[in-house]
Amino acid sequence: MVQLVEKQKLFVNGEWIETDAIYKIYNKYTGEVFSEVPMASPELVDKVVGAAVYAYKKVPFTPEYRHSVLLRVAELLKQNRNDFAETIAQEGGKPITDAHLEVNRSIATFEMAADEAKKLVGEIIPNYNVQGRFLYTVKKPVGVVAAITPFNFPLNLVVHKVAPALAAGNPVIIKPASDTATTALKLCKLLETAGVPKGYVQCVTGGGSTVGEQLLNDQRIAHYTFTGSPGVGKHIQKTIGLRKATLELGSNSATIVHHDGDIEQAAAKLAKMSFANAGQVCISVQRIFVQKSVAERFVELFLQHVAELKVGDPLNPETNVGPMISEKEAIRIEEWVNEAKEAGALVLTGGKRSGNIYYPTVLTNVAKSMKVVAEEVFAPVVSVTVYDNIEEAIELVNDSKYGLQAGIYTKDLNLSFKIPYLLEVGGVIVNDTCCFRTDQMPYGGVKESGNGKEGPAYAIQELVETVTVVVNIEG
Ligand code: SIN
Repeated sequence: MVQLVEKQKLFVNGEWIETDAIYKIYNKYTGEVFSEVPMASPELVDKVVGAAVYAYKKVPFTPEYRHSVLLRVAELLKQNRNDFAETIAQEGGKPITDAHLEVNRSIATFEMAADEAKKLVGEIIPNYNVQGRFLYTVKKPVGVVAAITPFNFPLNLVVHKVAPALAAGNPVIIKPASDTATTALKLCKLLETAGVPKGYVQCVTGGGSTVGEQLLNDQRIAHYTFTGSPGVGKHIQKTIGLRKATLELGSNSATIVHHDGDIEQAAAKLAKMSFANAGQVCISVQRIFVQKSVAERFVELFLQHVAELKVGDPLNPETNVGPMISEKEAIRIEEWVNEAKEAGALVLTGGKRSGNIYYPTVLTNVAKSMKVVAEEVFAPVVSVTVYDNIEEAIELVNDSKYGLQAGIYTKDLNLSFKIPYLLEVGGVIVNDTCCFRTDQMPYGGVKESGNGKEGPAYAIQELVETVTVVVNIEG
């Protein structure tokens, strides 16, 4: 069969642009070329920002129209769901069943953002101490937004940035991860078809960090919304100075399995969520803490479930774990696991690599000094550590530079109400894993996991300016 290479164009000011320089995107399982994407020159990026500024200042985009256009995109996504899922599976290596889930979530995210477009209201400020003044606020779009998006959810994490930005009335420039840019460019086609006004959505890629750097240094951009590593997040914040950014960064997320939790359910769900998308999820389960009295039973069940996971071709509906995004990344995690082994960690299963596939790996006897514990693994590797009491478990979870989400399995009602105040994270999931996310919830972390919240109702608040109005009613 002849492999069809999809030739992409960039979406700039309502037009589809080709450039002389292109880069190739590979099918992460077969290694064949999947698509070819143009690289944007500095002149083109400059034109993109200029077009976005023009749209912001001159092109009307009413809340009512934003609402209907976002619903139309959701409809178009429904009609094109198979193409999107297959694209994500091929260029992202995500198993097709999970890729379909991602498309479904993206549809929901658009629908939620459409609702938010109609809810943007200011408030009347009670005035009890100054005579003759009426105080209120209005919300207005912040201006041009740059969305710098990762490879691991090439559709939904683009949607989580684009949909609230549009709902708020801001032009948005997408800079997708180079490895999975086809999905973002296909989304632009739907946004165009749905009728997003010219200049309100544009997409540029550079095959590296040059486009991103240029965007960061362009003072005409008002807000940055980014998902990626803490290193890049810190660089963004440093470069943009006083301008604002929503930063969704990494994590080494933990889940506690307490003695009174449902051990069977915990073992099954943790096996699934430690390795979903080959562990390349910001809230992937990386550290499991299990109470001593149930540890043996939990580990036995957990390993049984891990053994059932099918590793292989993302296009096969049976596959649970696909390839990692690159062989370089798989080699990186192989080295981290080997380092941990040399320092005393025990491999209960896995620890093997074949090209860019890293097999689901469970470690125990790990220490905080090991990278597989202290850093974000972003790979199918999880560790299991036994604790004596809940105070110790909380300390173990908090002993991290990150703080995105944490999970706990327990039937103790008091504990489940108390623990959100004790864990240093942005989200606590009771009786499920730290890897739970549904798109309406506020999502974002503390410490080196970033700042700001995603979820359309929350993201939109970061993408509007609150303007205070004071009227001298005696004037
Ligand atoms: C992420 O990796 O931050 C996104 C997780 C998700 O949306 O499920």
